This record gives sequence, C-alpha cells and structure tokens, in this order.
Amino acid sequence: MSQHAFPRTRPRRLRRAEFIRGMVRETALDASQLIQPIFIAEGEQKGQVSSMPGVVRLDIPELIAECQELAALGVGCVALFPVLPQSLKTEDGAEALNPDGLVVRAIKAVKAAVPAIGVMVDIALDPYTTHGHDGLLDASGYVTNDLTLEVLRKQALMYARAGADIVSPSDMMDGRVGQIREVLERDSQHNTIILSYAAKYASSFYGPFRDAVGSAGNLGRGDKKTYQMDPANTDEALREVELDLAEGADIVMVKPGMPYLDIIRRVKDRFGVPVAAYQVSGEYAMLRAAIANGWLDEKKALMEALLCFRRAGADIVLTYYAKQAARWLAEAR
Ligand code: PBG
Repeated sequence: MSQHAFPRTRPRRLRRAEFIRGMVRETALDASQLIQPIFIAEGEQKGQVSSMPGVVRLDIPELIAECQELAALGVGCVALFPVLPQSLKTEDGAEALNPDGLVVRAIKAVKAAVPAIGVMVDIALDPYTTHGHDGLLDASGYVTNDLTLEVLRKQALMYARAGADIVSPSDMMDGRVGQIREVLERDSQHNTIILSYAAKYASSFYGPFRDAVGSAGNLGRGDKKTYQMDPANTDEALREVELDLAEGADIVMVKPGMPYLDIIRRVKDRFGVPVAAYQVSGEYAMLRAAIANGWLDEKKALMEALLCFRRAGADIVLTYYAKQAARWLAEAR
C-alpha cells in the first residue's frame, strides 16, 4: 500500500450525523428499566439527607404522591428503605418483624394507590439494629449466619403477604435466597420476585446511605467485611451469583455500580440472566458534589453514567436519579 492510499474503512462515517449515530447505537436507556430508591420515615426522621443533596426522606402520603409522579413518568419500580427513630432500634432488630411497621404500611399504601408501579423492599436488619449490622450478633460480636436467616425469612414473608412485588435480600448471609424462596413457596407466594444483592461488596461508597438511614453512627468504626465481599475479588462474585440463582433468585444485583462495571459484564456474559446494577449513595454524592461545583454537566454526566450501566450488561439500574432521568428521557422524545 502506498503512503498516499486512502483509508479503506472510515469509522467516522457512522458518526457524522445524529441520524446515523442513532441507527448504529447499540444500547438505550428507558425509564421502565429504572428503580427509584426512596427513604421512608415519620415525624422527626423526615426531611433532607445532608450527604445526599436533593434526596428527601418521605412519609407515606408523600411517598404515594412521589409514586404517582414516578408512574406517570414510566419509572418501573421503587425500592423502599425505612428510617427509624433510635427508640425503635434494638440489639435483635425486633421491629423488623412488626406487622404494623413502617415498611408494611408503606407497601400496602403504595399498592392500593398506585398499583402500576413495582414495589421492592430490602430484606436486612440494619435499619432496625442498635449496632447497625444486617444480622444478629453472637457473644463475640460476629454476625451469625443461620440465626439471622430465621429473621430474614420471616421479614420476607411478611413483606410478600403485604403485597411487595420484589423482595430484595441485601444482607449477604449464606443461604438466604434459598430459605426465602422456600418460605414464600410454602405460603403460596409463588409470584414474589427475589432480586438478590448477589455480588454486594464491602464498599466505602455506602457512607451517605448509612447517614440517611441513621445506621452510620450505630455501626461506628465497624465494617461489614465478614459478610460483604472484598472489592479485590471477581471470581467470588460469579460464585455468589451462581449460588443465588440455584437457590431461586430471579434477578441478581451487582453493587456498587460504576467502579464495578467489570463484574456486571462478567455476570451477564456467564449467566445470561436479568442483572441489576445499583448506582449507590456514594456515587450519587460524588456526582452531586461535582455538579454543584460546576465541574460536571448534570444531565450529560448522569445520562452517560446510566447508559454505561446498560452497555456493561445491566438490564435494570437502581439510581437516586431515576425520576430526573425519566424526565430527561421524556423530554428527549
Ligand atoms: C443495607 C443496605 C445498604 C445499601 C442498600 N441496602 C448499606 C449497607 O450495606 O451498609 C446501600 C445503598 C446505597 O449506598 O445507596 N442492607
């Protein structure tokens, strides 16, 4: 080939104008694929989350109004996280099994008022325990696995009976998906979806969430490394996903999101099942901080981040930006 030969292939041809960029675009984002996490609270626990500007803890009437808006924008689902007063927290997290507790009342209220939107609830004890851990402690302070399962099972069944569409174990105890599936089947809750936090890492990016639910102070200098995964590991994520699927999970989640796109891709390639990604509180806080300083363009940065979850292999994205993203998607039509 002579020095002056023309390039035979010019990838830029397909980038020249929006019509052709649109035609060759491989992935897209739709509001129906988004899950909006919402903190729910009553009385003094209501209000703005300081480390998550723009995120507000809602009571049940406000939650219903929010769900109506989200449903109108086409957002698929909400994920509810309770914020309790310290007075309701105990060593054993007994409030988690209160049949008139905040989450049960919220599930019933949303399903009655906005039946079209999916309702997902977290299965874990951290909003309810004085020590801020997701499970029960033994005498040495270790989070015990099998005793915790007994509580998680009951919590999941109670939420399913209240009408939750999706139960979402976020505790990382071994065997919890199988036990929850078993108890749901025995109770004829055949269509309750289990979305498991399958590859959930012991991440520093959950800090603002722990502020939001008030578990940060309780956890103190402790961490969750004896049950959540080591950020250094990737094969272990596949093992966790394999176990959860074998135990009856319908959808598996990778969490956090942006620093873990490689895990999303490996899970999607290996198992070909519905995968969810969680853009967690710390990712939200980072983006908000940069946006507030004028260092990033809010809409462009957010829509890129969310699209990249889809490109990496996520079918579903949990993001505190779900409502705003749905608005932007509607405007773009
Ligand atoms: C608790 C739970 C956590 C998150 C979701 N469920 C925090 C944790 O494991 O400490 C984190 C969500 C976020 O950071 O946005 N089981």
